[in-house]
Amino acid sequence: MLAKAPGLGADMVFLDLEDAVAPMEKPAARDKIVKAINDLDWGETVLCVRVNAWDTEWTYRDVIAIVEGASERLDELMLPKVESAAEVQALDMLLTQIEKSTGRQSRVGIEAQIETARGLINVDEICGASDRLETIIFGPADFAASTEMPVLTGGVQIPEYPGDHFHYVFSRILMAGRANGLQVIDGPFLKIRELEQLRDYAMRPRILGYDGKWALHPDQVKVINEVFTPTQEQFDRAFDILEAYEKATTEGDRKGAVMFGDEMIDEASRKMANKFVMRGERAGMSRSAG
Ligand code: GLV
Ligand code: MG
Repeated sequence: MLAKAPGLGADMVFLDLEDAVAPMEKPAARDKIVKAINDLDWGETVLCVRVNAWDTEWTYRDVIAIVEGASERLDELMLPKVESAAEVQALDMLLTQIEKSTGRQSRVGIEAQIETARGLINVDEICGASDRLETIIFGPADFAASTEMPVLTGGVQIPEYPGDHFHYVFSRILMAGRANGLQVIDGPFLKIRELEQLRDYAMRPRILGYDGKWALHPDQVKVINEVFTPTQEQFDRAFDILEAYEKATTEGDRKGAVMFGDEMIDEASRKMANKFVMRGERAGMSRSAG
């Protein structure tokens, strides 16, 4: 699995020391991860390791073993079940010492998972806790357990619920993340063979404004990349809006609000279009000819 990870087409890969590793295997898993980071060619993939949460006995050794053992190729650590700003700050301080002591040149970033009731209540202070924080992530499986939702599968739609049982949670995390300039990511969809259900469910956080979603299996990567990349039509239209607006504001009587086809566009339209263009370009898209 580790050897396959770099070639799967995901923008980011995280190697897990937390819930996918059995307690008795934790020490051995640290060595395997350090070796995988140092020996495999990770290309352009953002490379992260998920350590155990601070309420276990493993976190400090996870952090020291991984950051001291791994080369500068390691980009970030992911901290699960974050419940307060202090937990992020504790990791930040430990990282600062390890970086000083090893002479590491690049700073290790932090991704934080919100997956408990207390984590959600404190999400604002968590998102502003450290300038190492890059990403905030929703963890639906642990969250369902924490809030005692009567579900047995994480991250999937619940047909009995009228609407989306996670709508509030998605929105709450998104606001805190955006207010602090973080990337906002949705967690896993556990029915790994149900790709059409995944497509449908991933569209919810996408439409709210999320930047991406976890994949647990290689087959999920393609679907998720499609959902989170603008369509060619959206991408071309965004360019057309930018062009029309640039022309309107700089030429003739320099209007700030003009008609674009049958709708009005203004400065806010330019900002919305800009996001599509940036997102599409990051995914390697180019404007259609003509
Ligand atoms: C992910 O860690 C989750 O609990 O959903
Ligand atoms: Mg979890």
